[in-house]
Amino acid sequence: MPKTTLIPMLADGEFHSGQDLAAALGVSRTAVWKQLNRLEELGLAVESVKGRGYRIPGGVELLDELTVRAGLDSPVLGLLRELQLLETVDSTNAEALRRVAAGSGAGLVCSAEQQTAGRGRRGRAWVSPYARNIYLSLVWEYNEGAAALEGLSLAVGVAVTRALAHLGLPPLQLKWPNDLLFAGAKVGGVLLEMAGDASGRCQVVIGVGINVAMPPAAAQAIDQAWTDLATVAGGQAPGRNAVVASLLNELLPLAASFARTGFAPWRDSWMALDAFADASVVLHSGEQRQAGVARGVDERGALQLETTLGLRPIYGGEISLRAAP
Ligand code: BTN
Repeated sequence: MPKTTLIPMLADGEFHSGQDLAAALGVSRTAVWKQLNRLEELGLAVESVKGRGYRIPGGVELLDELTVRAGLDSPVLGLLRELQLLETVDSTNAEALRRVAAGSGAGLVCSAEQQTAGRGRRGRAWVSPYARNIYLSLVWEYNEGAAALEGLSLAVGVAVTRALAHLGLPPLQLKWPNDLLFAGAKVGGVLLEMAGDASGRCQVVIGVGINVAMPPAAAQAIDQAWTDLATVAGGQAPGRNAVVASLLNELLPLAASFARTGFAPWRDSWMALDAFADASVVLHSGEQRQAGVARGVDERGALQLETTLGLRPIYGGEISLRAAP
């Protein structure tokens, strides 16, 4: 884990002299200078002005447990067992799975300032720069195995759009199965991973990544159209602690009730948010391609693809818009 102890001091966006930083940390000016260079590597631009010192222009809001907890609805506090706000981790999903293996269970939440090996769907990497976005994983346990989780990832997509709407952001849309889109560009994604017995007691890690204020340099590694909440909001992104709290206010009750409700009560809401409703699409599944018209999802969360052979339920793959003939 990189030593980034300068960040809390510079988080206020004000100038701090090299001397003050060195004194506060009890290290030499050279050690401060080295750490400042490391911040640049983390994607946090540091401005240096002779005679005034160093600052992170605009400051940076770090994750803070008290602030997150203050934003939680009271019934949600009862569902939250453990809140782990980490600095740097390979992947919050991987960390949650390790903690599950070590005995943690339902109600564990891991979030981090930065992921060094963030996981996306279909083996992709998830670009995860320091202190600018949200990387969050929530663990829940079910007795009914993988079958009881059908449609859960789609319901999570709906819950995330609600969480962001509660922060006053303009409405987002969903792309099957659970990409979050704004004006056709991806603002977030969901990755579920499972542990335990696929036909009995199992633990699911619900991983959510949301671009909040993606630094353009980091975004160069993204291979699809993307956006972030700062853009969605028209300038100022909501605070990351508020986003985490709002996500937990939606996700914890969803996770706790899903074994009882299943996807059925979420289906209409998913359909209302469907960015590809009635669109001509191509389904990509491994090497295979299939053209059709996207007709929303069925009660299990499968994409209903209308082909020349009729309506087919699709359980895996990825869709893209079909170019007009
Ligand atoms: C996608 O490809 O759309 C899914 C992206 C999921 C990213 C999140 S970030 C938090 C959690 N930890 C990970 O490594 N991945 C998920």
